[in-house]
Amino acid sequence: MAFEKICTLDDVWEGDMDVFTTSCGVDVLILGVENGEIRAFQAMCPHQAIELVDGEFDGKILTCKAHLWQFDSNTGKGLNPKGCQLAQYPVKIDGEDIHVNVEGIEPLKSDC
Ligand code: FES
Repeated sequence: MAFEKICTLDDVWEGDMDVFTTSCGVDVLILGVENGEIRAFQAMCPHQAIELVDGEFDGKILTCKAHLWQFDSNTGKGLNPKGCQLAQYPVKIDGEDIHVNVEGIEPLKSDC
């Protein structure tokens, strides 16, 4: 499989996030980050598999609602606690369409 269209730029404004599902059933969290870029990550928190879309996003930092773990929205790296990480999917923008490629990328889980 390769890149596939998952949504459009109109679906995720800057400072906004939503979950979309690929044709093979992978849920992808799409973030409109502060500098106008689009990022795509695993939809579930690596801590205890809570939906990240139910948390908070301020355009820079994504915060899980369950235990307030925080992630950098550009890299998916854990800010609090450090050492955790979200799996990130490559994104391509084609006109208004957002394409992602989930091939070979598994959601990460934390040992914490
Ligand atoms: S489930 Fe996300 S911080 Fe615990």
